[in-house]
Amino acid sequence: MPGHGNPNADITFVGEAPGAEEDKQGEPFIGPAGQRFNRQLAASGLRREDVFVTNTVLCRPPGNDLRAYPDAQLRCPPLWLHPVLQQIKPRVVVALGRTAGSIWMPGLDAHEMNGLVRSVGGEYLVVGSWHPSYALRSGGEWNSLDDAVVANIKLAVELVREDDHLP
Ligand code: URA
Repeated sequence: MPGHGNPNADITFVGEAPGAEEDKQGEPFIGPAGQRFNRQLAASGLRREDVFVTNTVLCRPPGNDLRAYPDAQLRCPPLWLHPVLQQIKPRVVVALGRTAGSIWMPGLDAHEMNGLVRSVGGEYLVVGSWHPSYALRSGGEWNSLDDAVVANIKLAVELVREDDHLP
């Protein structure tokens, strides 16, 4: 299955595209962005083995810039991401970054997506979030973007809890 983690996870994270290390090893978020993501996940009380993690496309884009290939963003997710989500059946998807977010929140910029919750066909909720690489690039061991990602992950956990209480 394209992606990695717990196939019964309530929460699935969708990033942008594999980086160099991810491309080599065929696993999402294991390079520098992945290290940052693991710390954000830990700060929110989750472990990698609790969640499922994947990307909008499965191969590293040339120049590592997926925005140069808008067609890939349009064509790839329906071909394989949506079927994967149908199999995993997450209750909440956290979209890491604008590329993933624009699958479910087209036309919004990253600021508008951050912390936003959308229901997708009554099947699952999507929470928009900053991408871990953005926090990494913004400097320091930890910064306000990390706090924002953690808040989004905690929101996802809370939404799953609320869903548990529905009749
Ligand atoms: N960035 C992503 O969006 N996904 C990865 O797997 C690694 C870096």
